[in-house]
Amino acid sequence: NTDTTPFPKNFLWGGATAANQIEGGYLDGGKGLSIQDVMPNGIATAPTEAPTADNLKQVAIDFYHRYAEDIALFAEMGFKVYRFSIAWSRIFPNGDDAEPNEEGLAFYDRVLDELEKHGIEPLVTISHYETPLNLTRTYDGWVSRDLIGFYECYARTLFERYGSRVKYWLTFNEINSVLHAPFMSGGINTPKSELSTKDLYQAIHHELVASATVTKLAREIAPDAQIGCMILAMPTYPLTPDPDDVFAAMTGEHSNLMFGDVHVRGEYPGYALRLLKEQGVELDITEEDREILKNTVDFVSFSYYMSVAETASRGNQQTTAGNLIPGVENPTLKTSDWGWAIDPVGLRIVLNQFWERWQKPLFIVENGIGAKDQLVEVDGKKTVIDDYRIAYLNDHLVQVGEALQDGVNLLGYTPWGCIDIVSASTAQLSKRYGFIYVDRNDDGTGSLDRYRKKSFDWYADVIRTNGGSL
Ligand code: BG6
Repeated sequence: NTDTTPFPKNFLWGGATAANQIEGGYLDGGKGLSIQDVMPNGIATAPTEAPTADNLKQVAIDFYHRYAEDIALFAEMGFKVYRFSIAWSRIFPNGDDAEPNEEGLAFYDRVLDELEKHGIEPLVTISHYETPLNLTRTYDGWVSRDLIGFYECYARTLFERYGSRVKYWLTFNEINSVLHAPFMSGGINTPKSELSTKDLYQAIHHELVASATVTKLAREIAPDAQIGCMILAMPTYPLTPDPDDVFAAMTGEHSNLMFGDVHVRGEYPGYALRLLKEQGVELDITEEDREILKNTVDFVSFSYYMSVAETASRGNQQTTAGNLIPGVENPTLKTSDWGWAIDPVGLRIVLNQFWERWQKPLFIVENGIGAKDQLVEVDGKKTVIDDYRIAYLNDHLVQVGEALQDGVNLLGYTPWGCIDIVSASTAQLSKRYGFIYVDRNDDGTGSLDRYRKKSFDWYADVIRTNGGSL
């Protein structure tokens, strides 16, 4: 029923992907290597020295050549918005090149043409776990202050080229994940076990300054642009009502909320300064940095897959599987095939918490369940009967509807991997999120043909009724 839906009229329904997980064409059109080209197993094993043939991302799902067909399928579902990332190493193959690579720029012109043709609004992530490899190997990634300048130059190129066509921009995907995955998230070459707390937080500071720098830049070059930060949201519940557990949960939340606080308030919160002081970390923060940080974001976007629990007595507890941020297992929740806790109410909690804390429009730019799909034939057509995916998304969207009625200001919803892509953490294709099945297997075999799953029609209905069918 479209009359009773809590979703606003102009709500941006769509889907989300990232360049390294969807495009393939890893050397095409003058693209340089990115960190993903040496991560054949995601974060499960250490990066390789050079690219290896077993890396599924070399071809991924071949969006580089099939983007028109895929965008047409998104349009068939009624997408109003498509979130994708630009591969930094397509534009600046080494990251520190003097001039951008025209062929790379032209590729995204074509993607934007296709989106425009279907009236789909682009939402662009500037950096999504695909730092040019040279910046990692030569500069140790974001540990180096030099990265701010390279990123600014890259972002300037994007704003100048696409600024009139792209309204919504995200500076860094899941910026807080650098705490747990410094290589993938921060392009930091130093192994995590050898990385000092000082270098880690210095890298974080450089990213925060870079984010604010390009926010300022966007306002100069593309005044209509809306710039958002992107946080990996994972509500952390106290395992018991023991105040020490409640405090441990709060401390866990702080480590993530800090990133939003700086982006929205333009300065470090007191609890972060205390944490650094207690760890004996003195950051190199210049007066100019402090000024730059005042360029705060227009909106806050986030990914949401799961929640975790936390306790003060971690020693005895099993750490749960999950999306980059570690926690303690919550005995009240069921989990996905990959052990991620399924918690739709957690999404309503996050939406309320972020809105109350920041009073900035929010955007859910990732949500979904990675699952093993079975291709079957129904009425002569290949499909997947993915009732588990429909249930997950439906339950989460019902909670989004509740949050809207709580008064939360939400711009849109782009579920993750709207077409099957390569997983970030495990580099598998069998960990599928899509409404569209892609015939490619973990061993690299498969025709790359696309098939509509049952959830394809379900989501098309949700969009058509503006959430009325939930
Ligand atoms: C987020 C990332 O962490 O979760 C995506 O922004 C990622 O890149 C998604 O793909 C799902 O995680 P995974 O590991 O199942 O692919």
